[in-house]
Amino acid sequence: MDNNNRRSQGWFGKTGKDGLIYRSWFQKQGIPTHEMGGKPIIGICNTWSELTPCNSHFRDLAEFVKKGILEAGGFPVEFPVMSLGETVMKPTAMLFRNLASMDTEESIRANPLDGVVLLCGCDKTTPALVMGACSVNIPTIVVSGGPMLTGRYRGSQISTSDIWRFSEASRSGAMNQEDLYEAERGLCRSDGHCGVMGTASTMACMVESLGLTLPGNAAIPAPDSGRRILAHLSGMEIVKMVEKDLKPTDILTRKAFENAIMVNAAIGGSTNFVIHLLAIAGRIGVELTLEDFDRFSANIPLLANLQPSGKYFMEDFYYAGGLPPIIHQLKDHLNNDSITVTGLPIGDVNASFKNYNEEVIAPLDKPFNPTSGIVVLQGNLCETGAIIKPSAASPHLMKHRGKAVVFDDIDDYKHKIDDPDLDIDENSVMILKNVGPRGYPGMPEVGNMGLPPKVLAKGITDMVRISDGRMSGTGFGTVVLHATPEAAEGGNFAVVQTGDIIELDVLARKLNVLVSDEELNARKESWKKPAPITDRGYVGLYVRHVEQANFGADLDFLKGSSGSEVSKDSH
Ligand code: FES
Ligand code: MG
Repeated sequence: MDNNNRRSQGWFGKTGKDGLIYRSWFQKQGIPTHEMGGKPIIGICNTWSELTPCNSHFRDLAEFVKKGILEAGGFPVEFPVMSLGETVMKPTAMLFRNLASMDTEESIRANPLDGVVLLCGCDKTTPALVMGACSVNIPTIVVSGGPMLTGRYRGSQISTSDIWRFSEASRSGAMNQEDLYEAERGLCRSDGHCGVMGTASTMACMVESLGLTLPGNAAIPAPDSGRRILAHLSGMEIVKMVEKDLKPTDILTRKAFENAIMVNAAIGGSTNFVIHLLAIAGRIGVELTLEDFDRFSANIPLLANLQPSGKYFMEDFYYAGGLPPIIHQLKDHLNNDSITVTGLPIGDVNASFKNYNEEVIAPLDKPFNPTSGIVVLQGNLCETGAIIKPSAASPHLMKHRGKAVVFDDIDDYKHKIDDPDLDIDENSVMILKNVGPRGYPGMPEVGNMGLPPKVLAKGITDMVRISDGRMSGTGFGTVVLHATPEAAEGGNFAVVQTGDIIELDVLARKLNVLVSDEELNARKESWKKPAPITDRGYVGLYVRHVEQANFGADLDFLKGSSGSEVSKDSH
């Protein structure tokens, strides 16, 4: 590209008062004028925050991206955007994914940037930044922060997936508070995000399979020197992308989304993948439906033996070769000609990588589990769909009929679940309402609700659970999620009652409540829409505009792109 045509020259290439202002304040930072004279100006969009512990090493990581940008002849400028700490943000980080995406979008568009590197880690930071960047569409590469090292507790390996086991163990009396203190000290023992195939690693694999990263990005642990090298190489790559004018719309075609769905099935990725990929597709203008997730994952077996669907950790996945050997093994299924940030087809980019451990990454002809992916359920309890991840569910519950025990909201659940008089047993179907995008608001990860103590005491560890909420990517169980329309919208899910018979048949993709239409309609007549918790501020805006989970839970007015042009100057 001709240097004078660079986007950043719309600022730094100006004469007169405007150019003086744009350049002078950059010189204040010790940047000589020639750096602004036509080099690719590369933004490093950083979600570093001490409130997002998974991303706490990102200031250090950014320095390696900068070295790569400088080496390739670009000029780096690092800037912060809203960060989203999964473990601390109340009521849920998901409430703010769309807000962070707006911050990212406007920060990129409003500034003199020719390309951007997105530093992403903890769950929501990846989709938020990618969504925002897609709505601008200048050359973009993602660098993930990498998973943390495997945890340790009393001589055994642990991960954030064990939180759910520890929680049940403490509720059943098998672990006391001292045991939990000891476990928490060994759980998160290095930089990085959750060290299993939870949502953060799923998102890192998602961007790699979409072609938005260099190969190998997803699995390198955060403390491994390979992570810094990848950051350096990504800095070099974004400069080349600017020179080639290789934009997200060139990479994120419908075929790239199909690839991501197939790869997600092979790795046993998080259910949150569905909601985030739908939202990204909405920004880039690719038609993608809930049914596509079922359709494109149906023929793909589970290859990665990783928690929560399997046994191993992200660290093991890296030593086995990471995502590239999985992509390579799927070559007969994938759209191999989809291009990546390198400008080369994904099939070629991943062709030379080897699988070093068939315990961790199974061969295609001997898969770890023939069942994989996301199953999309239909029926009168989820009129516009719900999802379940069969690889994380119990085989004996995949076809199940039981009496509903309904919790009207999360407080109702917390209030009742430990009550010994609660009429519930292992055959009951637990239903949690009002944890959807609008109802909570923000759609928290509470779908894998803990079992009642009297059931746990029998040694039972799984029951059918259904909600309009989400589940942590580290979670597991026979958990039906993202039921739509959510209870707060007033469909059948809003009026299901304790005692109704629920029929789940995962193989047949059915989820029904065995109550007549007449009865359901009569119940809906007397249903009242709950009042929003607030009309004010971002949360008020969110509640008014958030779409249902089957469309990705983006804000309706954020769909699509506003491009990268800004016609007016600021002075
Ligand atoms: Fe940040 Fe799991 S809490 S990735
Ligand atoms: Mg999570």
